Amino acid sequence: MKPRVVSGMRPTGKLHLGHLVGALQQWTRLQDDYDCMYFVADWHALTSEYSDTGGLAGYACDNAADWIAAGVDPDRSTLFIQSQVPEHAELYLLLQMVVPIPWLERVPTYKEQIEQLAEKDLSTLGFLGYPLLQGADVIIYKANYVPVGDDQVPHLELDREVVRRFHGFFGDLFPEPQPLLTRFPRLPGLDNRKMSKSYDNAISLSDDAATVKKKVMRMYTDPKRIRADIPGTVEGNPVFTYHDAFNPDTAEVDDLKSRYRAGAVGDVEVKQKLARALNAALDPLRERRAEVLARPGRVREILMDGSLRARRIARETMEQVRGAVGLTYK
Ligand code: TRP
Repeated sequence: MKPRVVSGMRPTGKLHLGHLVGALQQWTRLQDDYDCMYFVADWHALTSEYSDTGGLAGYACDNAADWIAAGVDPDRSTLFIQSQVPEHAELYLLLQMVVPIPWLERVPTYKEQIEQLAEKDLSTLGFLGYPLLQGADVIIYKANYVPVGDDQVPHLELDREVVRRFHGFFGDLFPEPQPLLTRFPRLPGLDNRKMSKSYDNAISLSDDAATVKKKVMRMYTDPKRIRADIPGTVEGNPVFTYHDAFNPDTAEVDDLKSRYRAGAVGDVEVKQKLARALNAALDPLRERRAEVLARPGRVREILMDGSLRARRIARETMEQVRGAVGLTYK
């Protein structure tokens, strides 16, 4: 049996290139060596988006279509929806019995997010419990590994502590889940700020070729270079970060970089070549996306089938958990 991998994504918007290099490429790669389960974390989305839930279900299917487009294979991996497996909530409840509140308050993302998302009221029990629910998501499948971004590592650290505490009371049941970090550093937004839905500075995986080109042509570059013959800086320049990430023609990229440093290339040429590389990288995704969307209801069906399979596993675990806790009434 292959070791198990579990990971989730919140359905809060369209997926973009950051999701591709930060998660989906790794999700796809892991399918060869692991039993992979990938899910739409709709309850996690609710922890911060509870006042506006209208987009949730649509994004769930849209995101899953992008997963498939990126190479996640529903025949090899289990794709499902968190809220379709209510056993996650039952395990989360039982974990709540043993987790001291200060453990949750100490998680770095907790205070950070409350400050960053000041327009939202995140002083809720649901938001405080976010990393604990994440732990339930993972251990209910007895997952060994969890592909996540580096910001999520403290969540898994907390989850491992909770697992140990739970085991102390009720006996060993779960592997301690380990993070699997992506190799690729975070992709900047088109304006060189953090890539974010609220800044509208990302290329969506579902953008067509003309939109990609338009977005690339207005990308931020070295602001010192008001003319093409002024030597420019390549390091930290998002146009070159994107070239490094998506242009497989390293000779072309090296040539552009040296001419850029020498003040011997215009931004337009650098960007046109980037747009071409990006569209070439996105073409196979566009094809697979169109293919799966050509069958109406197919993505939903994949998610529902996957949820049934996930639920069978989750049910089995919960039988064991109830037994260990002493909640069997026969
Ligand atoms: N917190 C994750 C994120 O924002 C999403 C998530 C929810 C998750 N549950 C998970 C990731 C379980 C991995 C495992 O990206």
